[in-house]
Parts: sequence; C-alpha cells; structure tokens
Amino acid sequence: MKRRFGIGIFLFLLIVGIGLFIGAQRGTTAPEQPIPFNHQIHVQNLKMECMYCHSFADRSTVAGLPSVRKCMGCHKYTDPKKPGIQILLQYWNDQKPIEWTKVHDLPDFVYFSHKRHIRAGIQCQTCHGPVQEMTVAKKVSSLGMGWCLNCHNQRKAPRECWTCHK
Ligand code: HEC
Ligand code: HEC
Ligand code: HEC
Ligand code: HEC
Ligand code: HEC
Repeated sequence: MKRRFGIGIFLFLLIVGIGLFIGAQRGTTAPEQPIPFNHQIHVQNLKMECMYCHSFADRSTVAGLPSVRKCMGCHKYTDPKKPGIQILLQYWNDQKPIEWTKVHDLPDFVYFSHKRHIRAGIQCQTCHGPVQEMTVAKKVSSLGMGWCLNCHNQRKAPRECWTCHK
C-alpha cells in the first residue's frame, strides 16, 4: 500500500515535470543561437542602422539576415580571442553560412510582407519592440491574427481574409 503511494507520487511528479518542461519550451521567445549576437552593442553602442544588416526590409517580403561576409567587414579587425568572434571566424574559414534560429515564425498559411509596412512608415520597433536594447533578440508581439487586425483596424488597412490568407 505504502509502496503504491510512492509510485503514485513519482508518476505525478514526472508528469508535472514534463508539463513544466514543455511549457518552458513553448514559452521560449529567445531561442539559443549559434553565435551570441548582441543587438545592443551593434545598434545602441556602435550606432548601426537596422537596414544595414536587414537590408531587404523595404524591398521584399522578408527583412533578411546579414551574411558572414558582412560581419567580417568589421570583425577582421576586432579582437579574435573573444568567444563569439572565435565561432564567427570558424564559419568564415569554413565558408559556411550561419544557421540562425528563427525568433519569429508565422504559420505558412499567413502572407506577410515587410515592404508594405516599412513603406507605410511603420517603425521596426512598433512590431519588434526595442531591439536596440536587446542583448538577445526576442519576440515581444504575439503575431496572432488579433494583433495584425488590431493595427489594420486603427490604420484603416485592408482586413479582407485574402489579404493575409492567399
Ligand atoms: C550588425 C548587424 C545587425 C544590426 C545592425 C541589426 N541586426 Fe537584427 N539581427 C542580426 C542578426 C545576426 C540576427 C540573427 C541572430 C539573432 O536572432 O539574434 C538578427 C535578428 C533580428 C531579429 C529576429 C529575427 C527572427 O529570427 O525572427 C529581429 C526582429 C531583428 N534582428 C531586428 C533588428 C532591428 C529592429 C534592428 C535595428 C534596431 C536590428 N535588428 C539591427 C543582425 C543585426
Ligand atoms: C560595423 C562593424 C561591425 C559589424 C558589421 C558587425 N560587428 Fe560585431 N562588433 C563590432 C564591434 C566594434 C564590436 C565590439 C568590439 C569587441 O568586442 O571586440 C563587436 C562585437 C561583437 C561580438 C562580441 C560581443 C561581446 O559579447 O563582447 C560578437 C559575437 C559580434 N560582434 C558578432 C557579430 C556578428 C555575428 C556580425 C554579423 C551578423 C557582426 N558582429 C557584425 C563591430 C561590428
Ligand atoms: C508590421 C509589423 C512589422 C514591422 C514594421 C517590421 N517587422 Fe520584421 N517581422 C514581422 C513579422 C510578422 C515577422 C515574421 C514573418 C514570418 O515569420 O514570415 C517578422 C520577421 C522579421 C525578421 C526575420 C525574418 C525575415 O524577414 O528576415 C527580421 C530579421 C525582421 N523581421 C526585421 C525587421 C526590421 C529590421 C524591421 C524594420 C526595418 C522590421 N522587421 C519591421 C513584423 C514586422
Ligand atoms: C502596426 C500596424 C500593423 C501591424 C501590427 C500589421 N500591419 Fe499589415 N498593414 C498595416 C498598414 C498600415 C498597411 C497598409 C500599407 C499600405 O497602405 O500600403 C498594411 C498592409 C498589409 C498587407 C498588404 C495589403 C495589400 O493590400 O496587399 C498585408 C498582406 C498585411 N498588412 C499583413 C499583415 C499581417 C499578416 C500582420 C500580422 C502578422 C500585419 N499585417 C500586422 C499595418 C500593420
Ligand atoms: C491582417 C492579417 C489577417 C487577416 C486580414 C486575416 N487573418 Fe486569419 N490569421 C492571421 C494570422 C497572423 C494568423 C496566425 C495566427 C497564429 O499563428 O496564432 C491567422 C490565423 C487564422 C486561422 C487559423 C486559426 C487560428 O486562429 O490560428 C484561421 C482559420 C483564419 N486566420 C481565418 C481568417 C478569416 C476567415 C479571415 C477573414 C475574416 C482572416 N483570417 C483574416 C492574419 C490575418
């Protein structure tokens, strides 16, 4: 009897543990990256423009991520001993692209385009938050349908279903 009770508690704790683990994974808004890239250093301290690295934002559906070559434009000349830079140099020497983990990822059945929004004068920060202060890029907006529609309502932007579901 006592022993069964023990197993019961063990199973209960195991299930709670798994539940918490899955919850924590789903709640992760700042995934682990191959290189600990720090926006604050590059944007706030070094005064770099967002579009210097995300250069397609005003021309394409995607904003785009910078190539290793672009990073190396500066990092050929910085302290090569820093841990993050050592990883960067490894990619450069191997001529391999960095596979960044996506922070934002809409489902495939949703159509989104950066170009329209940037050309309408909406700031990156309106949707992405104060990236210039982030040491790790994280998602601050839900990107749910209600979030999109809320602004489309306010800004009198199209709300027909086929606008976002092609
Ligand atoms: C020196 C280059 C550089 C500059 C400047 C820069 N970024 Fe980034 N950004 C990156 C890199 C590299 C990543 C991918 C790694 C990461 O997610 O941290 C990234 C990731 C992001 C992401 C997450 C992308 C995803 O996976 O969903 C957003 C949003 C973003 N940047 C917005 C901005 C904004 C807004 C600015 C200006 C305030 C900016 N970035 C300036 C290099 C840059
Ligand atoms: C315009 C020049 C410039 C560009 C482009 C640039 N960086 Fe930097 N980065 C710097 C400078 C300057 C520092 C600070 C100097 C130092 O720490 O040695 C720095 C610091 C870093 C650090 C060290 C951060 C720390 O914790 O100290 C990493 C890692 C890094 N950059 C990665 C990248 C990656 C990856 C890219 C391309 C997506 C990139 N940088 C593009 C200039 C640049
Ligand atoms: C109207 C809201 C909005 C604005 C404004 C906006 N973004 Fe985004 N951004 C998004 C959404 C939504 C996604 C996810 C797209 C997906 O998963 O298909 C995203 C994804 C990204 C990504 C990762 C995927 C990609 O497109 O490369 C980067 C990097 C990014 N944004 C940077 C920026 C920068 C830099 C600016 C300003 C120049 C900006 N964004 C302005 C909503 C916005
Ligand atoms: C902060 C405000 C804001 C947010 C958030 C926002 N939008 Fe928009 N969106 C606009 C505005 C304003 C326009 C109209 C731009 C124009 O007039 O060219 C627009 C236009 C569009 C268009 C082009 C419409 C067309 O006729 O081609 C699409 C597609 C779109 N948005 C999708 C989305 C999706 C998907 C989301 C959420 C993931 C989203 N938007 C979030 C403000 C926003
Ligand atoms: C401004 C952009 C936008 C418009 C307009 C829009 N949707 Fe969506 N819709 C989204 C986004 C973004 C998602 C993904 C939500 C998520 O990932 O949680 C979505 C998800 C959905 C889903 C999947 C279920 C869910 O809630 O995740 C359905 C069904 C749907 N939309 C139907 C519609 C219908 C019907 C209309 C017209 C009345 C419409 N949508 C108009 C952006 C839009």
